Amino acid sequence: MALILGIESSCDETAAAVVKDGREVLSNVISSQIDIHKKFGGVVPEVASRKHLEIINSVVDDALKEANVTFDDIDAIGVTYAPGLVGALLVGVSTAKALAYALKKPLVGVHHIRGHICANFIEHKDLKPPFVCLVASGGHSHIVLVEDYTKFKILGQTRDDAAGEAFDKVARVLGLGYPGGPKIDKAAKDGDENAIFFKRVSFGKDSFDFSFSGIKTGVINHLHNLEQKGETYNISDVAASFQKSVVDVLTDNLIAAAKKYNISKIALAGGVAANSKLREELMRKKGKMEVYYPSPIYCTDNAAMIACSAYYEILSGKTSDLSLNAIPYLSIE
Ligand code: KG4
Ligand code: ZN
Repeated sequence: MALILGIESSCDETAAAVVKDGREVLSNVISSQIDIHKKFGGVVPEVASRKHLEIINSVVDDALKEANVTFDDIDAIGVTYAPGLVGALLVGVSTAKALAYALKKPLVGVHHIRGHICANFIEHKDLKPPFVCLVASGGHSHIVLVEDYTKFKILGQTRDDAAGEAFDKVARVLGLGYPGGPKIDKAAKDGDENAIFFKRVSFGKDSFDFSFSGIKTGVINHLHNLEQKGETYNISDVAASFQKSVVDVLTDNLIAAAKKYNISKIALAGGVAANSKLREELMRKKGKMEVYYPSPIYCTDNAAMIACSAYYEILSGKTSDLSLNAIPYLSIE
């Protein structure tokens, strides 16, 4: 049996979790800074680092308490070291290194996006690689071939904005607040998704890349045109039409990539994977493919997914030494 303590602080969530044998979550503590950042309309990096520092020790303590274990019971510590806001990452990395040193336990640095993908293993005990996964979050939009638990190949990625970033920006323009994804998801439920057509961008049948900045500009231009003519608009219709265009691009590319690589299992990961329309469309378009996605709490940032990824990294022979450092940009491959 292996008990892993996972630590995550790459953006605006301070999180710690205790996970048994990679897939059984004993505790999953998340302290969100959303209320602090929402008055600025997005994450302020320096503020995020300071808040992580204030709370990380008590978040770790709570994770142990909730799991009913002590530091002695922990077999290894996994921590997000890349990619993310460097100052925010450093808080988790320094905490994990201090604990590993003081407790004489193995340490492993975890790639945040690998963690998001691993969130699928927590609730789907039968899920094994290979599968094709769409990772869509505030900072990333990738289609990844998961060849093994620690072997990943990027099949497609965004050429400009991440999907979550587009949700956040459009929500801001519509006056819905931050973070935009859940707000648009909710507003869209009362709207007509066919009210306005926002042009989808494709890079040809052999490319699984995305572009969302055109859709975002399409929304902004549409609203400006109406404002100039003195006309009003229905927020729910704009939200639903925008959401449908993003979801169409994400689902079509994911399914096309799985078909090209002859893979019958597809999965979702990252904050945008919590989107209800994305899940619904994927179920409608999947044909004979098996579809997996985590519960919303495991889609957005959490440390259970980091502990899960750490478990498989350690099984594959990887550990990190105390020179582990935070890295703001790093490919998943
Ligand atoms: O994975 P995550 O928590 O953090 C990053 O690693 O970026 O993702 C956060 C992103 C935000 O852009 C947020 O607006 C988006 O995920 N998001 C959603 C939904 N819930 C969160 N986007 C669309 N629909 C949702 N229900
Ligand atoms: Zn994330």
